[in-house]
Amino acid sequence: MLNARSVLVTGSNRGIGLELIRQLLGKSNRPEWIFATCRDPEGPRAQELKNLAAEHPEVKIIPLEVTDLSSIQAAVARVTDYLQGAGLNLLINNAGTSRTTTLESEMAEKMAEVYRSNTIGPMMVSQAFLPLLRKASRESSQKGMSCSKAAIVNMSSEAGSITNLYIWDLGQVIGYRCSKAALNMLTRCQSRGYVEDEILCIAMHPGWVQTEMGGPMAPLAVDTNIRAILKTLGSLSEKDNGTFVNWEGTALPW
Ligand SMILES: NC(=O)c1ccc[n+]([C@@H]2O[C@H](COP(=O)([O-])OP(=O)(O)OC[C@H]3O[C@@H](n4cnc5c(N)ncnc54)[C@H](OP(=O)(O)O)[C@@H]3O)[C@@H](O)[C@H]2O)c1
Repeated sequence: MLNARSVLVTGSNRGIGLELIRQLLGKSNRPEWIFATCRDPEGPRAQELKNLAAEHPEVKIIPLEVTDLSSIQAAVARVTDYLQGAGLNLLINNAGTSRTTTLESEMAEKMAEVYRSNTIGPMMVSQAFLPLLRKASRESSQKGMSCSKAAIVNMSSEAGSITNLYIWDLGQVIGYRCSKAALNMLTRCQSRGYVEDEILCIAMHPGWVQTEMGGPMAPLAVDTNIRAILKTLGSLSEKDNGTFVNWEGTALPW
């Protein structure tokens, strides 16, 4: 069972991120600190998250634009203050963006924008929070690796699976697929680079779920899948380090 003292979720004002925050709060052993980051906490798109935070003091809303290094550094400083010397157990790089494109219509600058949010963002956010993740790992009494001790979960997509080219006929989304394939490689690199620190690193496909990004055709409900994701996160260990799994923990081909 997931038993993290502190969790940070990027892009948590709507969709999968917001549901992660909601369900973390619903756990009997809820984290002491739930860092819900979003890029515009004062905007209308953050209202639901603000309502949750008003009811639950564990939820700390932190401004974070994942493509902006100074925003990331400010977020690290705020999280460090809240943690009062403790480390960060679980970093979920969830924020992501997509554009409906084809091989004909994809454009360089738009593709680069998607890459900045979906690939470079998680790389920079992980780099910046690494000292806090290391601290959590060092100070944990648990043996081995787990999401309760110290972990980076990169919210990827089966659309980025080079083998599967998941639902190609429903949308080519070239920039998105490439950004997630690259995020998967980042996950593999992190899993090797941070193995000595005992920081578990995985790429997760959350399922094709009903959110703004998933759209109305999505076959899966976000609440059901987030329940499964939290169960899966609670069951991962060092044997899963550097793998690409779906919401149920089933390994996917790269
Ligand atoms: N839904 C699916 O079917 C599905 C399937 C596979 C993978 N995924 C992945 O799961 C993750 C969440 O998807 P979702 O369905 O919840 O998407 P969503 O409903 O479109 O929400 C995306 C979230 O990411 C935030 N975001 C986007 N770019 C950002 C940036 N540069 N800096 C900070 N925040 C940023 C958005 O903030 P704003 O409100 O400010 O825009 C929003 O909170 C994504 O990584 C996505 O690729 C989703």
